Amino acid sequence: MMTIAYLLGVVLLALNTNAKYVIQDDYKPSTFADQFNFFTAPDPTHGFVKYVDRTTAQNTGLYKVENGKVYIGVDKTNVAPNGRNSVRLESKKKYTRGLIIGDFQHVPGQACGTWPAFWTVGPNWPNSGEIDIYEGVNNGTRNAMTLHTSDGCTINRGTDFLGNVETTNCYINAPGQYSNQGCSFTANRDNAYGRAFNQAGGGVYATEWTSSFIKVWHFPRNAIPADIKSGQPNPAGWGKPMAKFAGGCNFDQKFANHQIVFNIAFCGDWAGNPDVWRNGCSQYGATCADYVRNKPKDFSDVFWLINSLKVYRNQ
Ligand SMILES: *[C@@H]1O[C@H](CO)[C@@H](O)[C@H](O)[C@H]1NC(C)=O
Repeated sequence: MMTIAYLLGVVLLALNTNAKYVIQDDYKPSTFADQFNFFTAPDPTHGFVKYVDRTTAQNTGLYKVENGKVYIGVDKTNVAPNGRNSVRLESKKKYTRGLIIGDFQHVPGQACGTWPAFWTVGPNWPNSGEIDIYEGVNNGTRNAMTLHTSDGCTINRGTDFLGNVETTNCYINAPGQYSNQGCSFTANRDNAYGRAFNQAGGGVYATEWTSSFIKVWHFPRNAIPADIKSGQPNPAGWGKPMAKFAGGCNFDQKFANHQIVFNIAFCGDWAGNPDVWRNGCSQYGATCADYVRNKPKDFSDVFWLINSLKVYRNQ
């Protein structure tokens, strides 16, 4: 009897663990565009980019559903005197904690002037926080994962993650860090970003946000956990994340009501920063804006192709 009760207990425990996260929102391609706002204001990061509305995006092929995948791209045809057309999507729904899993067939391939990002952000920035899950500029090869907060949020260094800690203070005006640098990890491998990610057949980014940490995992196509594929994700079995943000931070106080954002900016505060531009891109254009204005064809690989986006909530 003891043994049966014990086994039953183990089985129930296992079932319970597997059921920890339940689906909250499945952003299906057919209704994807309805569930996002097409942001059309001037770029908050001062880029040489013009974010177009839904009608323009759909009429010019910057947004479409292609073979059951969501395509989000940029103008790769026209010289762009006033900033290159692009799309910035912000989810209508807002989330506090949870598990966000994006499966990408293709992420924007590297090109000078580009600044793609997949991220989440709350109101009254930076007081409700920002979580940058996937981000980089120009010809960079390593994904950056970053938090931006108000004062009073720091993270620990350690060994229970794969990426490299770049900075530990998440406060946007932290002393000794660049303005708005935040606390940041870079990936430990190339196949987590850009062309190398695409050459690996794409893959998954999973972000678990709890009261005590924020973790980001990257899985190349051939290493996606079965429980993600089956829609019953259990991060406890995934091994070390690429980034683990935890330490001197009250996550419930610093992060709330986030919208999910996809965008591809050009130039601006990071990609177009003269020091950053000089480091590997100035041979293509005197300034970032010159290059982005005049070389539409160089941006033909700069698009997202999203297989799925699912948000799970803690049961
Ligand atoms: C670097 O950027 C230039 C200009 O966009 C592009 O032509 C080139 O392919 C890039 N190189 C790499 C290695 O990403």
